[in-house]
Amino acid sequence: MPENRVLLKKCEAIDPGDVDSYVKAGGFKALKKARDRMSPVEVIEALKASGLRGRGGAGFPCGAKWELARNSREKEKFLICNADEGEVGAFKDRYVLQNDPFSVIEGMAIAAYAVGAQEAYIYLRAEYHFLLEGLKRAVEQVKAKGLLKSLDIKITEGAGAYVCGEESALMNSIEGRRGEARCRPPYPPTRGLFEKPTIINNVETLINVPHIIAKGPEWYAKLGTEKSKGTKLFSVSGDVRQPGVYEMELGCKLGDLLTLARAENVKLVQVGGASGRIVPHSMLDTRLSFETILGSGAITVFNESRDVIDIVSRTMGFFNKESCGKCTPCREGAEVMVEIFGRLVKGDGVHEDLEILEDLSHVMMDASMCGLGQTAPIPVLDTLKYFRSEYENRIDQSAFLRRLKVISA
Ligand SMILES: Cc1cc2nc3c(=O)[nH]c(=O)nc-3n(C[C@H](O)[C@H](O)[C@H](O)COP(=O)(O)O)c2cc1C
Ligand code: SF4
Repeated sequence: MPENRVLLKKCEAIDPGDVDSYVKAGGFKALKKARDRMSPVEVIEALKASGLRGRGGAGFPCGAKWELARNSREKEKFLICNADEGEVGAFKDRYVLQNDPFSVIEGMAIAAYAVGAQEAYIYLRAEYHFLLEGLKRAVEQVKAKGLLKSLDIKITEGAGAYVCGEESALMNSIEGRRGEARCRPPYPPTRGLFEKPTIINNVETLINVPHIIAKGPEWYAKLGTEKSKGTKLFSVSGDVRQPGVYEMELGCKLGDLLTLARAENVKLVQVGGASGRIVPHSMLDTRLSFETILGSGAITVFNESRDVIDIVSRTMGFFNKESCGKCTPCREGAEVMVEIFGRLVKGDGVHEDLEILEDLSHVMMDASMCGLGQTAPIPVLDTLKYFRSEYENRIDQSAFLRRLKVISA
């Protein structure tokens, strides 16, 4: 399957520093259509009919989320564009923010109109500080054209914590509090930022919106699969000759994407970043969709020269460092996993370690408070499923070397 560039088209066609180039390319027609010819409820109905699901990882239906906030009796409502993009191997939001900031702003303005938000935030990943000035300029230019009406868009920078991409920790961060997850319910559309109804959407989710409004939900719903409509941006990196951002119709085969990125000697692929699924070479026919596997769209390729245990060990080290520490299963579980992987890498592992890893993974997934702890063990379980012999061989070899040491001592 070839690429289908719908969302990325303007990235190549416009000057990101000049709003007029965006207008010339058809920009803001959707916003005008929404405001002049559709009621907020009609906009939400169009979103629901399109089948658009959130692109931040969880795939929640976008229209249904907006409807919850719209129906709230609270007068003050907020909108947040999640531009934290902390997932390992993800860089598609950065590409959009850098090359087509106006599509993000247009999507936000339509969302604000639909849900009735007067104030909006772009929560920008700390490492994307270099995008700040360009984004500010883009917001100012759109405002100067009178296109934002009374909507106020602020840009807040993160402080470098992965967990602050999680929506409740993100709201804490904007409020100036410690960046850790909140207990839910209540969910943001009913009680979010500053206790008010809040819509949080990923950058990519928002840039789908102008297309849906301009071309209609029927056109959009023809793209993709039954439960995964539209196209998806993928950040492809690792052992590939052509890393980059690719746009594919949902339901494409993982192998098609790898062919475009010129991957060779593939051993395994991490689909959805550090917390994503691990797919062995034998499963490259897997289709990428919400029905199967997808996540945030980060695709990291590892070739035959890579060591599975080393990959997972580093991944668990990342989660241990990024755990906010609020709940015990994630805080302590990640620490124990790092300890076990340390043993396995050093050659001190024993077969019982594999059972502990499996048991601990299930406890973390069942009992952790937020998505970080709930998904952190996925790479452990997937590699134990598909690459168990590598773990077992390593343990057997280590035991053999230990015996040799004793004999020769
Ligand atoms: C640990 C963690 C990190 C996350 N990081 C991001 C992120 O960087 N960007 C993002 O859009 N969503 C991220 N999410 C998902 C958000 O919590 C939320 O579901 C998303 O922003 C909703 O937008 P959407 O409905 O448009 O996908 C993260 C979730 C978890 C659990
Ligand atoms: S799961 Fe981890 S990151 Fe999430 S609240 Fe618990 S300790 Fe914090």
